[in-house]
Amino acid sequence: MQTKIEKISPLSALAIKNILEVSQNGTDFLSFREKLAFANISHPEKKLEWKGARIAIKSALDCISLPYPGFVKDEHGKSFPMDGYGFVSLTHTKGLAAAIFHKEMPVGIDLDYVREKVVRLGPKFLNDFEMDFLGKDPVLHTIAWSAKESVFKCQGKKGISLKNNIRISPFTLEDKILDCKIEHSEYSDHFYKVKVEMEGDIVLTYTIW
Ligand SMILES: CC(C)(COP(=O)(O)OP(=O)(O)OC[C@H]1O[C@@H](n2cnc3c(N)ncnc32)[C@H](O)[C@@H]1OP(=O)(O)O)[C@@H](O)C(=O)NCCC(=O)NCCS
Repeated sequence: MQTKIEKISPLSALAIKNILEVSQNGTDFLSFREKLAFANISHPEKKLEWKGARIAIKSALDCISLPYPGFVKDEHGKSFPMDGYGFVSLTHTKGLAAAIFHKEMPVGIDLDYVREKVVRLGPKFLNDFEMDFLGKDPVLHTIAWSAKESVFKCQGKKGISLKNNIRISPFTLEDKILDCKIEHSEYSDHFYKVKVEMEGDIVLTYTIW
């Protein structure tokens, strides 16, 4: 997937980075706590992914002229700006990292490679109605998986099940904005619009407002 930095609105931006391309970039911009967290990651690949995601969020913030505040995780694993202003979501996968920031609204982002096996995993993250309209298409399944992960990250709380609580309305490969919602939980009737971008075998999804 092409690397990019995109201003979605004056309040929101996203960035996609090639992890290898940014592997030599400095990390001076990180907060003290983040530098410690980074130093504690022992797995080399995980370390590069973690760094790539922070470089992505730095680029997104630069794009809307906001300073890098440093980010901390809550008890669910979701990152929040240390200055308390705005919302962030991060994703990283083999070779790529992406981040989205919104000054006022929660956001979620997810990157995935299309894999045949995602169809077999369908019963774990889809209900019967969703499995019916997705058929056996691995691309549609990957989009559905990714969109649900983006919604999950946007709401941020553990205990929300992709299969039982996150619903996705029927869509085709032509649809670039999907309708999703959370149901049967204390966050019921939260509605989400999820943007879909595809390049080759990579699917990027993120929540929009
Ligand atoms: C937490 C989760 C969303 C991470 O997704 P992933 O595909 O493994 O990894 P990604 O690279 O896309 O995202 C990783 C980032 O998610 C973020 N994250 C972790 N927990 C989060 C949460 N509760 N809310 C929002 N974001 C979260 C972190 O920033 C993390 O990056 P970091 O470790 O560098 O800070 C995922 O593991 C998960 O729990 N999914 C839903 C649960 C589920 O139902 N799964 C099984 C269905 S079969």
